[in-house]
Amino acid sequence: MSTSYEKVLENLQELKLNRMSVILDGYLERSTKEKIPLLESLEFLSKEEILYKNDTSLKIRTKVAGFPYQKTFEQFDFDFQPGIDKSVLNELRTMRFVHQAENVILLGPPGVGKTHLSISLGLEAIRNKFSTYYLNCHDLVSSLNQAQFENKLNQRIKNLCKYKVLVIDEVGYLPIDKQGANLFFQLISKRYEKGSIILSSNKSFNQWDEVFGDASAAILDRLLHHSTTINIKGDSYRIKDKKNQLLGSKLKNKN
Ligand SMILES: Nc1ncnc2c1ncn2[C@@H]1O[C@H](COP(=O)(O)OP(=O)(O)O)[C@@H](O)[C@H]1O
Ligand SMILES: [Mg+2]
Repeated sequence: MSTSYEKVLENLQELKLNRMSVILDGYLERSTKEKIPLLESLEFLSKEEILYKNDTSLKIRTKVAGFPYQKTFEQFDFDFQPGIDKSVLNELRTMRFVHQAENVILLGPPGVGKTHLSISLGLEAIRNKFSTYYLNCHDLVSSLNQAQFENKLNQRIKNLCKYKVLVIDEVGYLPIDKQGANLFFQLISKRYEKGSIILSSNKSFNQWDEVFGDASAAILDRLLHHSTTINIKGDSYRIKDKKNQLLGSKLKNKN
């Protein structure tokens, strides 16, 4: 016959209350010594389980998202990019855009923080329990092409539509052929008004013809209907130190 302790442990494990089953031993000792009332004990143990479960699912959602790196808003130097309206970003951080299935478009030359801000927003979405997935445009179009080739396009698009937030990075860096543009359009149109897209591109909207050809008008139409565009016009953060070094050595040479 198993003891009450063993039965409780078994029950906790069957209910997958993993945190409670790990801390039970130590807690029983403490609660006996300190004569902690049952209700208080239940409150403590259940809270511990909730915190543990939230933390685990946060870690899983972050891993699933597949970001190339993790950067937050706190790590973004807004003084370096004064053109960015912080109030717009603060509004996006409320996650209202995700609730409304609206899109966010970040435009600007290389190195100005488009990917950084996309990832920060994605991480914030994950913290708010929204499923999120990151892809660069080239990988996305390749995977849609592959799915089409394998006769699994609907499945692939359905899979990409299950995320509340889809981050599509680096649109416009590499050319996309006619079929790729058509598949990209199908995805955008399936997500339209259903799930958010955070998209970044080095090309301004009037250059999208060069990227998507004939499909560009239809893609922009759906993408922009409910959206916020952040146009970043500043200098590249990647080369700021190089620039400072160069300026420094030029000044030295002058003196
Ligand atoms: N304003 C900024 N403050 C802090 N780090 C920045 C800023 N802008 C860019 N970075 C950093 O510079 C690098 C390049 O930025 P990234 O977002 O990848 O540029 P891109 O606009 O090309 O996507 C990243 O490591 C990013 O974290
Ligand atoms: Mg980038």
